[in-house]
Amino acid sequence: MNERETLKVNTKGHLEIGGADAIDLVKRFGTPLYVFDEAHIRNMMRVYKNTLKSEYGGNGQVLYASKAFACLAVYAIARQESIGVDVVSGGELYTALKAGFDAGQIYMHGNNKLLNELELAVDSKVGCIVVDSFREADILNGLAAKRKVMQNVLIRINPGIEAHTHEFVQTARTDSKFGFSVSDGAAEEITLHILSKKNLCLKGYHCHIGSQIFEKQSFVLAAEKVMDFMAGMKNKHGYIAETLNIGGGFGIWYNDDDPKLKYADYADYLKSLITAVKNKAKQHSLKEPYLVIEPGRSIVGEAGVTLYTVGAIKEIQGIKKYVAIDGGMFDNPRYALYQSKYTVLLANRASEKNTEKVSVAGKCCESGDLIAVDVALPKAESGDIMAVLSTGAYNYSMASNYNRNLIPPAILVKDGKAEYIIKPQTYDDVIRNDAVPEYLK
Ligand code: LLP
Repeated sequence: MNERETLKVNTKGHLEIGGADAIDLVKRFGTPLYVFDEAHIRNMMRVYKNTLKSEYGGNGQVLYASKAFACLAVYAIARQESIGVDVVSGGELYTALKAGFDAGQIYMHGNNKLLNELELAVDSKVGCIVVDSFREADILNGLAAKRKVMQNVLIRINPGIEAHTHEFVQTARTDSKFGFSVSDGAAEEITLHILSKKNLCLKGYHCHIGSQIFEKQSFVLAAEKVMDFMAGMKNKHGYIAETLNIGGGFGIWYNDDDPKLKYADYADYLKSLITAVKNKAKQHSLKEPYLVIEPGRSIVGEAGVTLYTVGAIKEIQGIKKYVAIDGGMFDNPRYALYQSKYTVLLANRASEKNTEKVSVAGKCCESGDLIAVDVALPKAESGDIMAVLSTGAYNYSMASNYNRNLIPPAILVKDGKAEYIIKPQTYDDVIRNDAVPEYLK
């Protein structure tokens, strides 16, 4: 957890989030429940924005990578904090636009953007589209030409960095479905291809090396490699890139295997990146590029806590004790997908000592539906309220109605006040788009 005041144990021994007692929240909103601490989200957005301002003269932009958690309210917060957003689908773009987001502040990503997504992006005049294939460049040029507009684009390049993180979230290795590799000449080829297109304006390059990364060096190396590549394009082809978008990926605390970074540490990550970019610009006699970053997880991850009610408890003598909750992989698939570790506690008995090791099981109909394995807890009873920390990123956004379970609602808390930002689903919502052919009736 960060050094914040907004996540603590209060005098009743209850977990308190954003000034609200978790148990009061449960009485009012029920479980399972995603709780988001607004102050933390805003603080993280400000850390990045202020650092860019103080260390780089504001010559750049912070984009919130909305894939981490997208909904109308979070786009509204980003808008109020005057940062941009990155979107990766028509659905995220639509939500951002509905939230009143200035389209010029939106960057659009995706390794296989659909025609209707590209049309929506061009028609709504998004600030920049990050091109990820030759086919996309051609389609986009055609769409822009038809509308007699110039579309700003970046190229997603792949500098071949192996970041130390889960294989599934590494994105800039040479073997990746994302981007154009520098090493095999594809990045150069697409540069020339796009420069030849009349209705595309190539602003520069983007790269994203992966997610949940703590080594500063990985980000520095990526920035250096992209700057070297930019220098190569200038020297060889006279193309001067204005923008360097270095993606997101800063890690957060999930459990005690992870460092507990303070706000100042995130500022330091950005400072190291900025220093690397400045040095490389000097070395290659390049103008310092407009620097864009796209943090997602580090903005909303630690802001989120999921609250559950403990139900069945099952002990398999000598093997394991399972504590089952009213949620599971349908609201948090990250253990099932990546064996991600979490910190779990009993929100109603948060100051009690841990006395046993348990595994937290979800309610879905499969054995892999776990939230945490062998975690320490006080002796849990049915009816206890369990809190899983650092669930703000890639939990709601990856949730599903698996087994036709309802995706939990989300609330935003600030100064002890709480309001829905995602309303509860109902069973009617679950069947809303079902259709029964006449012959089956
Ligand atoms: N920019 C681009 C182009 C990205 O692909 C991503 C994440 C980000 C920014 C934001 O990265 P962050 O700051 O959040 O690390 N579902 C996985 C994470 C997938 C991340 C995909 N891209 C998980 O639950 O860990």
